[in-house]
Amino acid sequence: MVSFTVEDQDGNRQKIEAPDDMGLSLMEILKAYEYPILATCGGMALCATCHIEVLKGEEELGIATDVELDQLENLPEYYSTSRLACQVRISTLLEGSIIKLRGEDN
Ligand code: FES
Repeated sequence: MVSFTVEDQDGNRQKIEAPDDMGLSLMEILKAYEYPILATCGGMALCATCHIEVLKGEEELGIATDVELDQLENLPEYYSTSRLACQVRISTLLEGSIIKLRGEDN
C-alpha cells in the first residue's frame, strides 16, 4: 500500500491509501474515494477532467508526458506540475506526495 494526501477543490486535505500492486491509475483511486472527477474519456487522456496538480512529490512523479500536455494545454489554466490523474500509475513513487484536484467537479 502507498499513502498520499489529496486536497479537494475546497482545500480540504485527506490522507488516502491505495494498493500499489494492481496497476490502478490515480484517477481510478480518486473515483473510488468518491472525489468528483468526471473522467468522461474513461482514462484515455482525452478529456482532461482528471486534471491534478502535484503540490509535493513532483520530483518522484515526474512531469507530464507529451500525451498529457496535448490535453493540459487546452485547459484555461494549468501548472508546471499539472498531470492527468488517469496517466499516473499508483506506485511507491506516490508515497508522501500531495495531490490537488484541478479538474471539473460537476
Ligand atoms: S480521464 Fe479523461 S483525461 Fe484522464
